[in-house]
Amino acid sequence: MKISPFKLERYFAKYEFNTEFLLCSSDCEAMSIADLLALDADPAGAAEKFQQTWLGYTESQGSPALREAICAIYDSIQPDEVLVHTGAEEAIFLFMHAMLNENDHIIVHAPHYQSLSEVANSIGCAVSPWLAREENNWALDLDELRHLMRSSTKAIIVNTPHNPTGYLMSRADYDALNKFARENNLLLFCDEVYRESEYDPATRLPAACDVGDHAVSLGVTSKTYGLAGLRIGWIATKNKKVYQSMAALKDYTTICNSAPSEFLSEVALRNRQKLIDRNLAIIQNNLTVVDDLFSRHADLFKWIRPHAGSMGFPKLLKGDIEDFCDDLVKKAGVLLLPGSLYDDSGNHFRLGLGRKNLPQAIERLESYLNAL
Ligand SMILES: Cc1ncc(COP(=O)(O)O)c(C=O)c1O
Repeated sequence: MKISPFKLERYFAKYEFNTEFLLCSSDCEAMSIADLLALDADPAGAAEKFQQTWLGYTESQGSPALREAICAIYDSIQPDEVLVHTGAEEAIFLFMHAMLNENDHIIVHAPHYQSLSEVANSIGCAVSPWLAREENNWALDLDELRHLMRSSTKAIIVNTPHNPTGYLMSRADYDALNKFARENNLLLFCDEVYRESEYDPATRLPAACDVGDHAVSLGVTSKTYGLAGLRIGWIATKNKKVYQSMAALKDYTTICNSAPSEFLSEVALRNRQKLIDRNLAIIQNNLTVVDDLFSRHADLFKWIRPHAGSMGFPKLLKGDIEDFCDDLVKKAGVLLLPGSLYDDSGNHFRLGLGRKNLPQAIERLESYLNAL
């Protein structure tokens, strides 16, 4: 298999562990194992059970207790409709390899997390971007989707809440999208890794897997719940063919998941409302800091406020975004992510909102701006 480098991950590989302020992270603030266990109703009991975790192979589809905890996120999903993976990334890789063949066509919400199209590209699929436009506040246009459709189209890939714009699809558009996929016999792969981080919980969309068996929902502990180091992701689907094909391929990637991570993920998801509340409080506080910065520098940035998730995609109005990010990280030790890593040509950059040290990072960024 030949696959192009993952531009964003290569960029992080260069800076993530040697830069003082990561101002472009997509995940929320993490925590220690001790702090996670302390969230449990019986912390001492949870700690004891963690010590006793058996380090043999685990059930390939994910431990029953973890799948039970994952089901609580959904309305109608049963444990045998959940397949646990090593991160969301493995699930994306397996979905594409299990369900797509050379010359199939897919339609992908763009800009996007690169693997959502790149894995399909590497299989030899034709990929059409379904472009979110800034002038529409990053909304997708259903009429454009209809025009992108071909006889060889197999799947639509969407990501809502969206990385990198923080866009949350409206309920009307979401219903129309599901109807379109069903009527045209297309799979809908819905990357929901930022679900449950809506700033107004009333705007939360139903999970795609609860809508029907045309759909696959992707989830992970990394983003809304802030536990990326667990490397636990999953798909939930009522589509037996998708489930079985992915389960069969998983025997060639990881076979089963890490036992300690599965235990900790189950504790995390049983207590997920506490994690959501903690992380949304960090995001809300950071949003006020960022709103203030952008209002003080309205000549330099255009800011479309996100509606969900832990990032936004502002536009730099003067200068080149790659040069700006490069100079900023070298001179001020603050990492931003140029939108060009998403094949965006609009001079945008990704701004992470989920880390506790954002106020200090913004202070450093502003000193840099003032010295320009
Ligand atoms: C939209 C989206 N999907 C999937 C992933 C992969 O998640 P993980 O790295 O936890 O496997 C990411 C990570 O940034 C993401 O932003």
